Amino acid sequence: MRWRELIQNKAFEAQFKECLFLRKHQGDYGAEHLIFAGLGSRSSEHEAWRQVGAAIYRTLVGNKIYKALFNLDHFKNLQADFFRGFIEGFGLADYRFDELKSKRRQDPEFELLITGKLLPDLQKMLHEAQIVFSAVNVARRLGDLPSNHLTPSKLALESQRLFKNTQAKVVVWDLARIKKERLGGLIAVSKGSAEEPRLIQIEYYGTKSNQPPLVLVGKGLTFDSGGISIKPSAGMEEMKFDMCGAAAVIGAVYAIVSAKLKINIIGIIGATENMPSGSATKPGDVYTARNGKTVEVNNTDAEGRLVLGECLVLASERKPQMILDVATLTGAIVVALGNTHTGYFTQSNELKTKIEKAAEASGEWVWHMPLCDYHTEDMKGTYADLNNISANKGAGSATAAAFLEQFVTENIRWAHFDIAGTAWAVGNRLNYCSAKGASGVMVRTFYELAKSVVD
Ligand code: BES
Ligand code: ZN
Ligand code: ZN
Repeated sequence: MRWRELIQNKAFEAQFKECLFLRKHQGDYGAEHLIFAGLGSRSSEHEAWRQVGAAIYRTLVGNKIYKALFNLDHFKNLQADFFRGFIEGFGLADYRFDELKSKRRQDPEFELLITGKLLPDLQKMLHEAQIVFSAVNVARRLGDLPSNHLTPSKLALESQRLFKNTQAKVVVWDLARIKKERLGGLIAVSKGSAEEPRLIQIEYYGTKSNQPPLVLVGKGLTFDSGGISIKPSAGMEEMKFDMCGAAAVIGAVYAIVSAKLKINIIGIIGATENMPSGSATKPGDVYTARNGKTVEVNNTDAEGRLVLGECLVLASERKPQMILDVATLTGAIVVALGNTHTGYFTQSNELKTKIEKAAEASGEWVWHMPLCDYHTEDMKGTYADLNNISANKGAGSATAAAFLEQFVTENIRWAHFDIAGTAWAVGNRLNYCSAKGASGVMVRTFYELAKSVVD
């Protein structure tokens, strides 16, 4: 049957993400096989093009087709961001994590050939899409690596390897230096582990060195057992993903460096394990942070905020134009927003507007969450300045954000992104993500934010 008849017969209705693959269709377009894909009523959303790109990729690979041709001449006035979405969807769907299988996949690498008239703005978008999906896939791989393959020191090595032949510089502090720099929160969390912590800083100067940098801070818990306040065993293996904030920072900086954006950017990552042992921090212990504040650790499982606190002090010292931190910080954000939206906190309306715009451009979903003085009040300590858990029930993500705020120097624009719900296992929502694995969330939005700073 000719394809026109199939459409007439409603065998293909062009519903959103619907695909019709016609094998050995020797006919129009001079192609051996044809694939039709629907955008439904969403043809003017770049996110829909991203998902359709992934749907086509999956249908083709499902049919053992590893080479496809996309002829631009068949698309009249193709909007550049639609094209970018489409290419990103393809590249994101093409991610697979099989480096730890004894038999790696034998399928050939997928080849997508772009033919027809590649106008300059489409050419630019093609390049940008490749940068973005590669950076997201870098973040995903780091997320997917298990904790014995990605210890804090290995995360530092991976960062050094990734930026080796680039304009970026990677500086790594070991335990001795971390102690010398008085990063009390990072030391407190790492004490129970046989693995040494690392403080990783990635610096890229894309413009005059006196321009204030954008600082990205990431939670790099390569494994979070909870420590002495140990987590239940069911699902604990997922806590290898507790470094997805760090992965997002590495991915975003990688995209910014690859695109040679004219901004200065610093990524700061606190990397450690959180383990129980005879040398571990115990509930009730008090430590002193780099900014002089003292903290009572009443629950050793609320460790991300201790590590991030020190990174935020370091970030503040860089006299930044803004700080964005990203972390798998609280189970409470999963209760609030599930796995669809990343919750973010900021008290700067200007930054909120920038974030909303960047997320619109990236296609990632974010949701502004409340942060107020009541939350700050909840984090006051009894024996020290601060308590690491709230005095009240509820709003666990907001009280965590209020704790973090104590480490950001006043008047610095700052936003905190809690990705505990969106960092992995989002494949049931987004077809360009894997079912169980890391999503690489926030790489795309941070890249867009960095672009908006250049503009
Ligand atoms: N890494 C967890 C948060 C988390 C939980 C991420 C579930 C993804 C899925 C974090 O370190 C943690 O354990 N937070 C505690 C804080 C509590 C003790 C105040 C939590 O959310 O339960
Ligand atoms: Zn924890
Ligand atoms: Zn954690």
